[in-house]
Amino acid sequence: MSLQLLSDFSLLVHNTFGFDARARHAMHIDSVDAAVALATDPRIANMPQLVLGGGSNIVLTRDFDGVALIVGITGKRVIDEDDDAWLIEAGAGENWHGFVAWTLAHGMPGLENLALIPGTVGAAPIQNIGAYGLEMGERFERLSAVELATGERADFDRAACAFGYRDSFFKRAGRGRFMITSVVFRLPKAWTPRADYADVARALEAAAKPDAKAIFDAVVAVRRAKLPDWTVLGNAGSFFKNPVVSATAFETLKQREPGVVSYSQADGQVKLAAGWLIDQCGWKGRGIGGAAVHDRQALVLVNRGGATGAQVLELAEAIKRDVLARFGVDLEMEPVCL
Ligand code: EPU
Repeated sequence: MSLQLLSDFSLLVHNTFGFDARARHAMHIDSVDAAVALATDPRIANMPQLVLGGGSNIVLTRDFDGVALIVGITGKRVIDEDDDAWLIEAGAGENWHGFVAWTLAHGMPGLENLALIPGTVGAAPIQNIGAYGLEMGERFERLSAVELATGERADFDRAACAFGYRDSFFKRAGRGRFMITSVVFRLPKAWTPRADYADVARALEAAAKPDAKAIFDAVVAVRRAKLPDWTVLGNAGSFFKNPVVSATAFETLKQREPGVVSYSQADGQVKLAAGWLIDQCGWKGRGIGGAAVHDRQALVLVNRGGATGAQVLELAEAIKRDVLARFGVDLEMEPVCL
C-alpha cells in the first residue's frame, strides 16, 4: 500500500472555525487497509499524528508539525436486521448529516434529533454528539478502529467507549491513539418520538402526531435559526460544556440568581445552561479581534473574519473568568485544542 504524502498542507478547509493553520504533512486515508499501513510507513515513523474528520470540534492554535490524517472512508449499509432493530454501518468519513438523512430516506428512523450536526460519522462517538433530547450513545452498537502505533484493528462496544455527556474513552485514555474507521448503529423498529425539548416542541406545534421526518425538519429549522452556519461564520458549535453542579451548590446559586436555567439530572446533580451564564455576563455579540460570542447563542464562539485560534482561546479565558467570578462556576472547554 503506497499512500501519497502531501507536504505543507493547508488545514483551512479542514476545520470549521476556518483557521489558516498548516500541517507539515498530510495523508488522505480512504480505506481500513490504508489506516493499518500507517504504523509501518517509514516516512511518518515517530511523527506526531492528528486524525481529522470534518474538523468541526477542534481549535487549531498553531501550525501542526506532524502528519494530518484526513479520514475519507465511506460507505453506508444495513448489515443486519431482526424483528427489533436495524443494524447500520457507516464509514468514518461519511458526513454525519448526510448519513442521518439517508437512514430516514430508507425508512429507518431514530437519529432525526441529531440532524444537521456538522462533522463526520467517525467523529460522532469521540464526543458522543447530542442534541434536542438524544445522545448518539443511545443508538450506538459498536465501532471499528485501528490503533495508530501498532496498526492493529480493534472493535469497541458501547461499554468500552465509556460514553458520557460530550465524553468518551476517545477523549480520555484513548485520546489520539486510534483512528475510528466505521461505526455501527442500532435503530429500534419500535420508534417513539423525542419531541420534549422546548424549541423542537414549539417548531412542531402544528403537527398533531409528528413522524421522524417532521422532527428532523423541526431540528433543522431550530438549528438554522440559532446556530451559525460554519460555511458562513466559522465555529465549532458549543464552545463549553454545560456544567454539572451538586444539588447543594445549585440551591445556593439559585437563591442568588433565581433566573438560572437548569436541568435536573438522574443522579440528583443539576446541569446549568452555560449559554445563559455567559449571556448574563454580557458577552453575547462581544469579542476579541476576529473572535466573538455568537449574537444568537452565547455558547458558540465564532470567527467573524481573520480570527486566530489563539484569539478564540483568549476570548474563552475572559469568558471563563467572568462566569467564575459571578457564578462560582468553572466552565470546561468542549472542543479539542491543538
Ligand atoms: N440561553 C440563554 N442565552 C444564550 C443561550 C442559551 O439564555 O445565549 C439559555 C436559554 O434559556 C435556553 C438555554 O440556555 O433555553 C439552553 O440553550 P439551548 O437550547 O440553545 O441549548 P444549550 O444548552 O445551549 C445544548 C448543546 C447543543 C445542542 C443543544 C440542543 C451542549 C454543550 N450544547 O446547548 O449542542 O444543540 O443543547 O440540545 O451541551 C454542540 O455541542 O456543539 C451543540 C450545539
